[in-house]
Amino acid sequence: MRSLRLQTLLGTLLLTGCREEMSILRPGGPAAEKLAELTWIVLITFSVVTVAMWALIVWVGTRRRGSFEEHAPPDIGGGQNWILWGGFLIPAAVLAVIFVIGLQSMSTFPMKDGEIAAPEIAITGHQWWWEVKYVAGPPPLHVTTANEIHIPTGRYVDIQVTTADVIHSFWIPGLHGKTDLIPGRENRIRLRAEKPGIYRGQCAEFCGANHAKMILVLVAQPPDEYDAWLDHQREPAVPPVTTEAIRGKRLFVEGPCALCHTIRGTDARGGVGPDLTHLASRDRIASNYLENNRANLSAWVTHAQSLKPEVAMPNLTMFEGEELRALVTYLEQLE
Ligand code: CUA
Repeated sequence: MRSLRLQTLLGTLLLTGCREEMSILRPGGPAAEKLAELTWIVLITFSVVTVAMWALIVWVGTRRRGSFEEHAPPDIGGGQNWILWGGFLIPAAVLAVIFVIGLQSMSTFPMKDGEIAAPEIAITGHQWWWEVKYVAGPPPLHVTTANEIHIPTGRYVDIQVTTADVIHSFWIPGLHGKTDLIPGRENRIRLRAEKPGIYRGQCAEFCGANHAKMILVLVAQPPDEYDAWLDHQREPAVPPVTTEAIRGKRLFVEGPCALCHTIRGTDARGGVGPDLTHLASRDRIASNYLENNRANLSAWVTHAQSLKPEVAMPNLTMFEGEELRALVTYLEQLE
């Protein structure tokens, strides 16, 4: 138990250590700026109210109480003004002002109904990972990846979100507020990142055992870099060259992996789990829960159920020794 907690703590430190922090107060685009503005206004207003309340409480607690003779008789009336102002008028005014500012923020949010004809990216939530389809242009140019979203900087990117199972919520605090992924519905988000960088996000709606491990990473890159990345993703997987990798590919395609995963350019065409065509180009695996390296890939193949209990990926303990090494070698060269 303690080692598990320590692991979680270390994981959190590692994640926050090498990634852009998940802060709504450090906006990277217009939608997040609106929200940050509103957050500051609310934060400062309520801090002022809190300080005033504590000052009153301290004053009540420490003031000289006086004797019965010094006080007016209790039935003389008066004092209701405190209740009228402090309990009704001031709170109503504060809440009304914040409500109006909130409405204003909503109306200037960089997205209006019916503004989007066709989204560029279509995201589908799964328990517990993100399917990401790039759907700009004619269908032959469409491509599917997972968990790591890339967008170009300096322009708006329209995204459509939905879910394949339960309700999830798409949330990248540095760029946008939360948007729910609802069964049978398509919601829209308009993202814009001004500067290149990595933005961390998180599923923000409880969706089962691994909700906390349904992590998102968004990579904002200059337009030419983004185009190159997208072109590369459209290509089929690189064929293996070494004997070990060739063996790994055979194990993948002829074994249970191909029932659930697709690797374009091979006979593996499963549609249950993430597309692995360019797995090695992604920084992390298991919906960004684990770093993408040999040790984690091996552990994921053989013990996914220990790393993410109840995940659709079974423990493939039939792979061990040389076979496991070959399989992982193949996965590692899927650049
Ligand atoms: Cu998906 Cu929480």
